[in-house]
Amino acid sequence: MKFGYFDDLKREYVITQPDTPLPWINYLGCQAYFGIISNTAGGYSFYRDARLRRITRYRYNNVPMDFGGRYIYLRDDESKEFWSPSWQPTRNNLKNYTCRHGLGYTTIGSEYAGIEASTRYFVPLDETLEIWQLTVTNKRAVKASISAFSSIEFCLWDAQDDATNFQRNFNTGQVEVEDGVIYHKTEYRERRNHFAYFATSEKGGSFDTQREAFLGSYRGWDKPATVEAGQLTNSIAHGWSPIGAHQVKLDLAPGETRQIVFVLGYHENPVAEKFDPPGSQIINKKLVKPTIAKYLDAKQADAAFEQLRQYWDGLLGVFQVATPDVHTNRMVNIWNAYQCMATFNMSRSASFYESGIGRGLGFRDSNQDLLGFVHMAPIRARERILDLASTQLPSGGAYHQYQPLTKRGNNDIGGDFNDDPHWLIVGVSAYIKEAGDWSILDEPVPYDNQPGSEKPLYEHLQRSFNYTLSRLGPHGLPLIGRADWNDCLNLNCFSDTPGQSCQTTTNKDGKVAESVFIAGLFVLAGRELAAIASHRGLESEVASYIAEVVKMDQVVRRHGWDGEWFLRAYDDFGAKIGSKECEEGKIFIESNGFCVLAGIGLEDGLAAKALEATGKHLATKHGIVLQQPPYSQYYLNLGEISSYPPGYKENAGIFCHNNPWVIIAETRLGHGDLAHDYYSRINPSAREAISDLHRCEPYVYAQMIAGKDAPSFGEAKNSWLTGTAAWNYYAIVQWILGIRTTLDGLEIAPVIPKSWPGFTATRVFRDVTYNIAIDRKGAGNSIALTVDGAPVNGNLVTPPADGRKEVTVKAILS
Ligand code: GLC
Ligand code: GLC
Repeated sequence: MKFGYFDDLKREYVITQPDTPLPWINYLGCQAYFGIISNTAGGYSFYRDARLRRITRYRYNNVPMDFGGRYIYLRDDESKEFWSPSWQPTRNNLKNYTCRHGLGYTTIGSEYAGIEASTRYFVPLDETLEIWQLTVTNKRAVKASISAFSSIEFCLWDAQDDATNFQRNFNTGQVEVEDGVIYHKTEYRERRNHFAYFATSEKGGSFDTQREAFLGSYRGWDKPATVEAGQLTNSIAHGWSPIGAHQVKLDLAPGETRQIVFVLGYHENPVAEKFDPPGSQIINKKLVKPTIAKYLDAKQADAAFEQLRQYWDGLLGVFQVATPDVHTNRMVNIWNAYQCMATFNMSRSASFYESGIGRGLGFRDSNQDLLGFVHMAPIRARERILDLASTQLPSGGAYHQYQPLTKRGNNDIGGDFNDDPHWLIVGVSAYIKEAGDWSILDEPVPYDNQPGSEKPLYEHLQRSFNYTLSRLGPHGLPLIGRADWNDCLNLNCFSDTPGQSCQTTTNKDGKVAESVFIAGLFVLAGRELAAIASHRGLESEVASYIAEVVKMDQVVRRHGWDGEWFLRAYDDFGAKIGSKECEEGKIFIESNGFCVLAGIGLEDGLAAKALEATGKHLATKHGIVLQQPPYSQYYLNLGEISSYPPGYKENAGIFCHNNPWVIIAETRLGHGDLAHDYYSRINPSAREAISDLHRCEPYVYAQMIAGKDAPSFGEAKNSWLTGTAAWNYYAIVQWILGIRTTLDGLEIAPVIPKSWPGFTATRVFRDVTYNIAIDRKGAGNSIALTVDGAPVNGNLVTPPADGRKEVTVKAILS
């Protein structure tokens, strides 16, 4: 069952039924001012940091779900009936409800009692504000007297404190209202120099700023007393809960349309110019007023919207493809790329599942996110890499997370996740392959942000590599530390205390438990580092990296191979995890996918065996589960993985982040049909028809789909902010479609389904546009390449020597 449809031409997902199984959200903003918005106008806004600069309030895990939002009410002042055109919060029986989630904007509209209304929400580029453009049309044969109300609830900045510290918060709230503009200025009197504002294009209406005055006591947002009565009260909030609400009266002739603009924004004043007149306690509004005036003008708002469209067209234009599969096309061309930008902007901070007050930016996560967005925003990728590397520790290890506002490593969580440092090598290599910018390696970067400790970025990569060499376990495999990619495989934790974090608790000295996954990652990262060193002419270094990689490859064969598949790990007793000898957790996806992806066992058939076993034991119709059989109980020696009921999350859920490792691995064996089949099983667009089962948005990936051991097999959770976005994008674009960035140029090596006659693509790469056509003439994966009509040996397209900006690439696949 579907709840809407894709409008590919407009690059929108159109929801036609408001009561979706879960809130289906979108993101507003792409630089500093952000918001999340659901299909019924729920959500909240913040400036840069969802925890520390929260602008509007949201009620987590509320019933009914998804409360707190950008709400509009319309009231028929004759019949006294009122409703919300976005369905929530009043939930009337609307006609023609539609929510169009587009790239950086959402438009929600409907018709009720002959009044059509729709609101377009977006954040203009380079501004710290959001615009709501409300359009109301009278479709009746007679005139209509309508009151339009807008409303938001302010958050007192620190979202964590806002939700807990009521003894203080009920006293601090302050607002000003001037020329009909509501200014929220809690704590402005003391140490803050920022405030929020909420304005409307219609002058002379009324307002409310105290929540209780607006709602009436013991009432909810579904039935505000003032809206019911048809009159706001011009209340001024002192303490309690400041809100912003405007009332605008509209007399509409039959067929008449009116547009009203609301602007919600954030502004910082220079500290010395906070007040006007100086010495008073009144906000200085001189600097912000021109901005407010500008965007209250509908023409300016339209122009800003047009610029936003062009911005996204530019980003998505870097890679576009036309294949025979509509689901591949729309994910690659629109939604997967869009989701990659969201994960870059948000990391794992703010979504319907991430509260915005939890984690900072993950070291491992952010490096992997690069794989998905680096082609659209290489300059921002470069900055991100340098920020990440600056939090690296002198040991070569890394803080597991850092705070985006301070850019400092997070001490509460600390380091010792032993896979972390290698992701930096993977990220930097992806950046150089895309941008061809070798200068980044010479950039001086501190360790642990300590001034004076700066060393070229290249040295950071060396320390990442060496980190593992000085942390090898009894079998010569990398020690796992607190966890590897699987945050829940906590082999040194041994926690028996309720509520203790398995990720920060370590009761063992960590000298025994080893990870085969990190071994695979080490092999991959080591090869990348060797290729980089070779480019720089450091041949003796190349030899030593390769020697270590070969050694690790051999150790994996000797101690990491179980006979039919790769083992997952050794625990603190030196016992195998992910082996046929185990009762539960006999086979895992991570080590099998990643070792093959890294090239281990390609020549001697181990890789083929491992993938066969993965397919046989782990693949399901909804995707590949993380391990089998699931853990039926909590095991002290395994940690959090065994804390989840079977089939969920890391305990045998379909973790969509690591499915693409197997997809890439299958392409390395030349299996285009199976690779694309696995890709399609978790492709959200391909799952749209089962939205009632899948339940999350059909336009973006979710972190997890419940595995076959769960009662809700096939149900997705935790959409949007997941490494799934980058890895699936990377798998389909660079490995199945095979348009791959390398240090030397663009490689063309598709491994596509046999039934595809070919495909075409455009790729802007290092300022050159490549028009690529792949034509299938046989069932295999060999390539005959011509570049601008001239045959080329091999499958590498190097940058044109004569400075041409447009190149035609044709490939015959046979
Ligand atoms: C989450 C984490 C990521 C981890 C994965 C598996 O996606 O953000 O860092 O690798 O879970 O545990
Ligand atoms: C991790 C991941 C995750 C895991 C969780 C446990 O970082 O997000 O998938 O289940 O933390 O706390």
